[in-house]
Amino acid sequence: MDLYASMFSSQLETRPFARNMIGTFAELVRGTGNLRVADVGCGPGHLTAMLHDLGLDAFGLDLSPAMVDHARRAHPVLRFDEARMEALPVEDAALGGVLAHYSMIHTPPGELPALLAEQVRVLAPGGLLLVSLFGTEGPEPVRFDHKVTPAYSWPADRFAELLAGAGLVTFARLLHDPATERGFLDTHLLARRP
Ligand SMILES: C[S@@+](CC[C@H](N)C(=O)[O-])C[C@H]1O[C@@H](n2cnc3c(N)ncnc32)[C@H](O)[C@@H]1O
Repeated sequence: MDLYASMFSSQLETRPFARNMIGTFAELVRGTGNLRVADVGCGPGHLTAMLHDLGLDAFGLDLSPAMVDHARRAHPVLRFDEARMEALPVEDAALGGVLAHYSMIHTPPGELPALLAEQVRVLAPGGLLLVSLFGTEGPEPVRFDHKVTPAYSWPADRFAELLAGAGLVTFARLLHDPATERGFLDTHLLARRP
């Protein structure tokens, strides 16, 4: 699992588009006045640390005990807990933001409405959700094998519809040419709870 963790901790923080979307997300969250932010599916915790460095009260959650252990050892001053995104250990309307960076890619499409509703539950009014995922230009999500488990790539419009169905307003989208050899567009959707 350390190998899996190291794959993520070295690559994503150096990708300029992702880094800039996270910077924009952090700035907007700071503007809400509620600095508490969850990095859901945080993996090795490097983006939780980035959010902390951007002035947020960030904590990480991941279903994988090995990832949580890795994150705690790499970032001992930050809080990481083992939890599923489907059942967040967070009170209603408590957070200024939720970051889901390539952590919803494994969720089967039929389970996403409930998963997104859970993220909305913990967001305060005005709170922000940044979802990053693999994009596709076709009309439907595409299932593919991703490293250790199946994943899905999404048309940005379809995912934005799911966000709308959960009660969020998607107000910024960034699609850019693939950072992966598979050729999927990298897609970042920034949404707000009204
Ligand atoms: C592709 S990694 C991304 C990790 C990190 N967000 C990053 O960008 O480097 C996906 C992570 O999401 C976690 N994950 C997937 N489904 C989850 C769920 N339902 N609840 C909590 N964590 C989940 C996995 O354990 C894994 O650590």
